[in-house]
Amino acid sequence: MGYSDHFFKALNISVEDRKSLSEFSKRSGIPVKKLKYYNEGNVVPTGKDLEKILSTANLSEVLLRLKMGRLDKDILAAIQENAESVLAEIDGFNPVVDSPEVDCTLEFETRLGKLYRGDCYSLLKSMESDSVDLIFSDPPFNLDKIYPSDMDDNIKVDKYIGWSQEWIKECARVLKPGGALFMWNLPKWNVALGSFVDGLLTFRNWIGVDIKYSLPIRNRLYPSHYSLMYYIKGEKPNSFHPDRLAMDVCPKCYGDLKDYGGYKDKMNPLGINLSDVWYDIPPVRHAKYKRRKGSNELSLKLLDRIIEMASDEGDLVFDPFGGSGTTYMAAELKGRRWVGCELGPTDIIKERFSLIEEERDILNGYRGRVNALFPEKTRSEREKRGLWTCETFSKNEQSELFDKNLK
Ligand SMILES: C[S@@+](CC[C@H](N)C(=O)[O-])C[C@H]1O[C@@H](n2cnc3c(N)ncnc32)[C@H](O)[C@@H]1O
Repeated sequence: MGYSDHFFKALNISVEDRKSLSEFSKRSGIPVKKLKYYNEGNVVPTGKDLEKILSTANLSEVLLRLKMGRLDKDILAAIQENAESVLAEIDGFNPVVDSPEVDCTLEFETRLGKLYRGDCYSLLKSMESDSVDLIFSDPPFNLDKIYPSDMDDNIKVDKYIGWSQEWIKECARVLKPGGALFMWNLPKWNVALGSFVDGLLTFRNWIGVDIKYSLPIRNRLYPSHYSLMYYIKGEKPNSFHPDRLAMDVCPKCYGDLKDYGGYKDKMNPLGINLSDVWYDIPPVRHAKYKRRKGSNELSLKLLDRIIEMASDEGDLVFDPFGGSGTTYMAAELKGRRWVGCELGPTDIIKERFSLIEEERDILNGYRGRVNALFPEKTRSEREKRGLWTCETFSKNEQSELFDKNLK
């Protein structure tokens, strides 16, 4: 992977000619391995390395940064102050990419949704501005996976970021004011994309979803969470009704797992506030729930939660990266209109819709366990065992609590 050799190009080091790299290394006194590290990660050297590099290449730090595309606040301020002359200098530069031919075909329609086959960028270009209430994106992570669409999942870092910026910009355009964008990705990519999205939409949350996503890596912390970035268009969300969660209890004896001490009577009977760390989203491994081979299918529970939180019945949900169609299924079951797109074959999504009643049961199972501190089964098991429930505390105390707007 790595970047497209911006660092080497800035130093006039030829990637093809190995001699040119070793010569630069000798002249600067910086080992080849370290120069390669700077190049791979497009990292601007600091300290003594920077001094050596600048004098060897006869460059200023500003020019090096400009050539690497790593602008700091001073360079940005200078560009902002001289915007007109910068634009005149780069005359002919036209960032407006011509609209691509819409080459998406309608593959499948339901009562509420439409699924297209093709490139989501092309579909996005054909969509009306300010028309979508909620967008969820789960793009390929550039991890060199093989997808049925045969797309290249191992491109240069700057290309991946550039591609992501293109479709994100379109997503921001088609989102309604007050609409929400949820971006699912590895922390590494969401970190790289965050400041770009900040320039288009309003940041709400970085949600850490605890799902172990790979084997432990030597000399690194065990990657244990996915990043779900939550943005809205404008200042206020049109919809925000997060589910409340049940209190964690021991699955065997139904006893408390946490000591709530003297606060038990203050617990909201409707459940615990949803936080920005989600521990209860299962990986889709069980054959019964998994719709296709490979590890890309997300849990219906995740999409149920997002759609519930940030949209209302009848709203329009869009997911540019269909995969096995989890978003479309959740949207359909929850009475939202939806638009979907998948570059590769869509049979798996169509088949999935033929088993919609099974999916409805799964979703109803999730919904039966939210918005109650103790869902029905837990409550009756706790009562049998003489453990406290919300009914243990008097009605008066609870209504006092609601009067204080703690709901
Ligand atoms: C990570 S998977 C999505 C999985 C999905 N969230 C689910 O739960 O099943 C990403 C999908 O995006 C598709 N894809 C990649 N590039 C695309 C593009 N430019 N337009 C539309 N779909 C694309 C891939 O073929 C792949 O199926």
